[in-house]
Amino acid sequence: ALVSMRELLDHAAANTYGIPAFNVNNLEQVQAVMAAADEVGAPVILQASAGARKYAGEPFIKHLIQAAIEMYPHIPLVMHQDHGQSPDVCQGAINLGFSSVMMDGSLEADGKTIASYDYNVDVTKKVVDMAHKLGVTVEGELGCLGSLETMKGDKEDGHGTDATMTREQLLTDPEQAADFVKKTQLDALAIAIGTSHGAYKFTRKPTGDILAIERIAEIHRRLPNTHLVMHGSSSVPQELLAQINQYGGKMKETYGVPVEEIQKAIKFGVRKINIDTDIRLAMTGAVRKFLTENPDKFDAREWLKPAREAAKQICKQRYIEFGCEGQA
Ligand code: G3H
Ligand code: 13P
Ligand code: NA
Ligand code: ZN
Repeated sequence: ALVSMRELLDHAAANTYGIPAFNVNNLEQVQAVMAAADEVGAPVILQASAGARKYAGEPFIKHLIQAAIEMYPHIPLVMHQDHGQSPDVCQGAINLGFSSVMMDGSLEADGKTIASYDYNVDVTKKVVDMAHKLGVTVEGELGCLGSLETMKGDKEDGHGTDATMTREQLLTDPEQAADFVKKTQLDALAIAIGTSHGAYKFTRKPTGDILAIERIAEIHRRLPNTHLVMHGSSSVPQELLAQINQYGGKMKETYGVPVEEIQKAIKFGVRKINIDTDIRLAMTGAVRKFLTENPDKFDAREWLKPAREAAKQICKQRYIEFGCEGQA
């Protein structure tokens, strides 16, 4: 059944676990997440970016998620707008039936210009006022996602800025976070702690200087009633990179957020963990392998099946690692 994100995150907080929020764009990804959740008894957050809405087409995204609810009525499911760039985008998602929206006011509506604090408060509050009347949960973002190695913002997936930033801009300030929550009354807050979107997050296995996990506890202490969200939380498994490269891919050396760091983050108060890249890597590795080993095959179902299976495996693994087993 469709539920609000507030409901799921409140339960996760009360029972000290974290819920992976998986990005979905097509049928096989939705099926993979649902099958994984069903096998382990996990609650589900399916999130669609503006790019997903555009790729699939709005009626398709809406009805793919409706189909998931129909097929798995016993699983509590949140339909979430990922990185809404304006109140209009969030309103559009609510009109489509989403039960949760992210108003990402860390950047202006062009998706490139670093927004002022006042702008962020203003647009976020606007969305909260409109969404809460309808029982829809709101996530906001404070601080700019980007790399503490290069001091650059995160532009890899086509939105965001690659501007050079200060450490202050790349790390959410706990005092400002408390003020932001007080002024906007939002339900969930995405924080910047050194993670970034995409496969190229770190040039080495991250240590405390480039991944500020401890800061989560400092932020959480000041806002016990607002749930923390970690974006850019794919772990970028080395074996998936190796598989892609073994079967003709050309990915460079790179590191993601280690699962044990995410587990620490959950102890410190993170409740929603955004994952897109790991599913992309898993599906790409599986398709490359299948088509290399079966050059005579051409039925799309035959290569989509291993891709869907690989996506399911990574989702299942994250559900278990983040403590979701049996929580639904
Ligand atoms: O925000 C980043 C998510 O990975 C979604 O990516 O905008 O390419 O769909 P996307
Ligand atoms: P990854 O690119 O690390 O999977 O992050 C996805 C994300 O944060 C979507 O909002
Ligand atoms: Na990156
Ligand atoms: Zn994100």
